[in-house]
Amino acid sequence: MTQKRVLSGIQPTSDSFHLGNYLGAVKQWVELQDGHDAFYCIVDLHALTGEIEPALLRKRTLASAAQLIALGISPEKSTLFVQSQVPQHNQLGWLMECIAGFGEASRMTQFKDKSSKAGADSARVGLFTYPMLQAADILLYQAHLVPVGEDQRQHIELTRDLAGRFNTRFGETFRVPDNFILKTAAKIQDLQDPAAKMSKSSGSVAGVLEIMDTLEANAKKIKSATTDAGREIKFDEKEKPGISNLLTIHSALSGVAIEKLEVEFEGKGYGDFKSVVADVVVEYLRPIRSAALELLDDEKSLIDILHVGGAKARDVASSTLDLAYKNLGVVR
Ligand code: TYM
Repeated sequence: MTQKRVLSGIQPTSDSFHLGNYLGAVKQWVELQDGHDAFYCIVDLHALTGEIEPALLRKRTLASAAQLIALGISPEKSTLFVQSQVPQHNQLGWLMECIAGFGEASRMTQFKDKSSKAGADSARVGLFTYPMLQAADILLYQAHLVPVGEDQRQHIELTRDLAGRFNTRFGETFRVPDNFILKTAAKIQDLQDPAAKMSKSSGSVAGVLEIMDTLEANAKKIKSATTDAGREIKFDEKEKPGISNLLTIHSALSGVAIEKLEVEFEGKGYGDFKSVVADVVVEYLRPIRSAALELLDDEKSLIDILHVGGAKARDVASSTLDLAYKNLGVVR
């Protein structure tokens, strides 16, 4: 039997991924490499929908590649590539824009959130058409599975709708991907504001655990995380969002079930608990951070890896695009 195809993407929008990116998405990417035909994409074109800083985009694209490899994405097992090196993404993106409704695109909450922050008039058109490019990312590879965190659910739903609509109107062209959102760590919250998700664009640097940050800085952030009223270490997202978030992080990294952690920390105080979580995080990130720094020392080899992935991705993407054009009646 041929292996199922997996596709996912991550934006190179900061110097470091945060723990939410890792636990909500990349950790599953690593697991799915075995037994699947996996394509992982650094979506630099999507990153252009935010502030554009040319020197930073280059640096962050390379840093993303280094971190993905350090986190366990193997360029031998998976196809790791940069979106802009595969022009079919833009080409299919346009086709998606031509079948998406203005109304359904207007309902995308990511656009509503981000554009309301910037003010609707100054939001860029690329931010509005972002989900159609994301649909193209996925459909080009005929992906069965798209491992993402909870915040991407709506974009995956739109992708499924667009694929189904295209197939019905123009003939079988795209695989409609399954939803694949991992429940346990699909939502890692900000350490300072546990009501908000941990996010690259978050205002509070202190609430975001960055993989490339120094180990001391991350330990400090955990020790000063906001905790809740009471003193029990119990998982209760409503009443104890701060402690629940720390339990989720500990459990996802240590592999110990949350119920077991609750028993282990019975009678202990928040301070003791936070210091154990800090140790778990620091020890987990120590080898990853140093592997990423080492990879970044040799840019040429890193770029070579991405070129190999780009060539493999173009092969698959071009045959899907050809089929889509053919079914639309485009002369080839
Ligand atoms: P991005 O770059 O914001 O995030 C990458 C992945 O990390 C997950 N994630 C989280 N998971 C749990 N808790 C959090 N606090 C948290 N923050 C981020 C995201 O769900 C995501 O899976 N639009 C996408 C990028 C993209 C894409 C694609 C994804 C473009 N094309 C095609 C899949 C398939 C995004 O902005 O992810």
